Amino acid sequence: MNFLNKNVIVTGGASGIGKAVAKGIVECGGHAIIVDLNLEAAEKVRQELGEAKVSVYKVNLGDSDEIRTVFAQILKDFVQIHVLINNAGIVSTLPFDEVTQKEWDKVISINLTGVYTAISAIYPSMKQHGYGRIVNVASVAAKRGGGLLGTSAYASSKAGVIGLTKAVAREGAPYGVACNGVCPSFTLTPMTANMGEVQRNRIISTIPLGRGADPIEIANGILFFASDMASFVTGEISDVDGGVTMDG
Ligand SMILES: NC(=O)c1ccc[n+]([C@@H]2O[C@H](COP(=O)([O-])OP(=O)(O)OC[C@H]3O[C@@H](n4cnc5c(N)ncnc54)[C@H](O)[C@@H]3O)[C@@H](O)[C@H]2O)c1
Repeated sequence: MNFLNKNVIVTGGASGIGKAVAKGIVECGGHAIIVDLNLEAAEKVRQELGEAKVSVYKVNLGDSDEIRTVFAQILKDFVQIHVLINNAGIVSTLPFDEVTQKEWDKVISINLTGVYTAISAIYPSMKQHGYGRIVNVASVAAKRGGGLLGTSAYASSKAGVIGLTKAVAREGAPYGVACNGVCPSFTLTPMTANMGEVQRNRIISTIPLGRGADPIEIANGILFFASDMASFVTGEISDVDGGVTMDG
């Protein structure tokens, strides 16, 4: 894949799947713009991948005003953003009757409203340039109503991301703006690192490939949709899930 001269925003690029995506962008010649709450971890990734090839911005994706301010600065700094990868997210694992209003609002705010706001901050510029590729990271939880690690608030936020992906794909198509989504299942990242052996084995038993994914295996799917190899694809929601979903 070729990202030469492409400026690529990766939210949540400081860890897990996002870090693997940022690495892939740099290895394929692009400039990775990591947007993350954890500035220290993002700086570490920058040192690792090369200071000239990575930029870092601190944003709380649960704060719409902050997203708009920082994304406006990014547009000023880079003039054109070719690709936006909305990867950052948090998980929520409480049973439905234990989900508080506060928990619900937080998960929706970061996982869904944050994705909306990030897209809306960049979309007009992509339209103007007649080029843009947006990739949103959802989850198998969106299709199954949870069932692996994330529960109701998480599944709902990710199902919203799928609807948003298709709507932006439909409206962006005439302007050269593509929008696709990727649904991972269990992936070996800090998000899933703290679960116990019993839960881990239960989850793995539902995955036909019989294991969790390495973050790079999810990143590869995301990078495909971010690249021009997917030039005739938009509005696609792709399972990169070891065979969990198989929903035709
Ligand atoms: N790991 C899995 O099993 C799995 C499965 C399905 C979907 N996903 C999705 O993949 C994406 C990446 O997950 P991961 O496993 O790499 O997670 P992770 O926890 O390893 O990394 C998430 C990154 O997002 C950042 N982040 C979190 N909240 C933020 C906020 N409010 N503002 C800015 N940045 C914030 C974190 O600092 C971190 O760098 C998420 O959207 C997640 O829901 C993960």
